[in-house]
Amino acid sequence: MAARSKVTVIGAGNVGATTAQRIAEAGLADVVLVDIVDGMPQGKALDLAEAAPVVGHDARVVGTNDYADTAGSDVIVVTSGIPRKPGMSRDDLIATNAGIVRTVVGASAAVSPDAIIIVVTNPLDVMCHVAMTASGFPRERVIGMAGVLDSARFRTFIAQELGVSVEDTHAFVLGGHGDTMVPLPRYSTVAGVPITELMSADRVAALCERTANGGAEVVALLKTGSAFYAPAASTFEMVDAILRDRKRVLPCAVLLEGEFRTRGLFVGVPAVLGRGGMERVFEIELSPEEQAAFDKSAGAVRELVEKL
Ligand code: NAI
Ligand code: 2OP
Repeated sequence: MAARSKVTVIGAGNVGATTAQRIAEAGLADVVLVDIVDGMPQGKALDLAEAAPVVGHDARVVGTNDYADTAGSDVIVVTSGIPRKPGMSRDDLIATNAGIVRTVVGASAAVSPDAIIIVVTNPLDVMCHVAMTASGFPRERVIGMAGVLDSARFRTFIAQELGVSVEDTHAFVLGGHGDTMVPLPRYSTVAGVPITELMSADRVAALCERTANGGAEVVALLKTGSAFYAPAASTFEMVDAILRDRKRVLPCAVLLEGEFRTRGLFVGVPAVLGRGGMERVFEIELSPEEQAAFDKSAGAVRELVEKL
């Protein structure tokens, strides 16, 4: 019988701990929860382990401040960093979080040289560049989580607008994880029917705008941090696609090598996720307007990378 997979989640805060909970409770993998704060990841891991008899799973959950415990991980999820406060953009986090991501990826990649890294820390697309440099991993094994979340938000708003089950909705949000992200109404459907045929252009535009502001909407309500339930669920979906080799087509931040007319930048595009990580960019035809919006979003990512 094959051993269970091992997932390291770095940053035992809101997104990290909730992701660890999802992975463990699905019995998908053993989880190592890492944080810089002494005792906190150990306490949360113990608490999660003590939920196992009630939930009914056998995944092992351990908390640590020592990267030696993460050795041999199949997937490393990076959530360490500071989140947004009201009035802050994701980009305001760049200097602090770049230092944190560089350190934790360097330490974890050194002991798990074959792992696949999923970056969550913001500003997302730029942190993917930092993680790739710090790990030295190829592009197949450094993937950013944002598109799944942004698309989930779009799906939620579509389902609410039309009074249908979220299950029958599908949506694609591409581009950088920022104000210039690119919801694609033409490729966003209910039971296969594009939403452009199901609601007025004004309503489509309103839903796209709400999606682009989805993170800020939650921050404004919470006041002390940013969203974590939907981000953790989105991260889980990517880990699941990879570990179970599902070949899911999910929007992820990927280092583009000419696809979508972009080179040398991490930007959100549909990608096939399986045991090899980002196995293939799933190219779709963009209209001239969609390509222009994508280029603008990629330009915003490029500016931030240059700032770094
Ligand atoms: P949080 O503040 O609850 O957790 C962050 C954790 O990182 C804290 O426990 C902190 O102690 C830890 N940490 C800081 N420096 C560390 C280091 N050097 N080594 C290990 N751990 C360290 O924040 P939350 O809400 O979990 O968000 C985490 C990050 O994820 C933020 O940057 C946030 O903006 C980002 N995020 C990104 C999303 C996306 O779609 N890509 C969605 C939601 C959040
Ligand atoms: C979000 O979109 C803060 O990036 C995070 O909720």
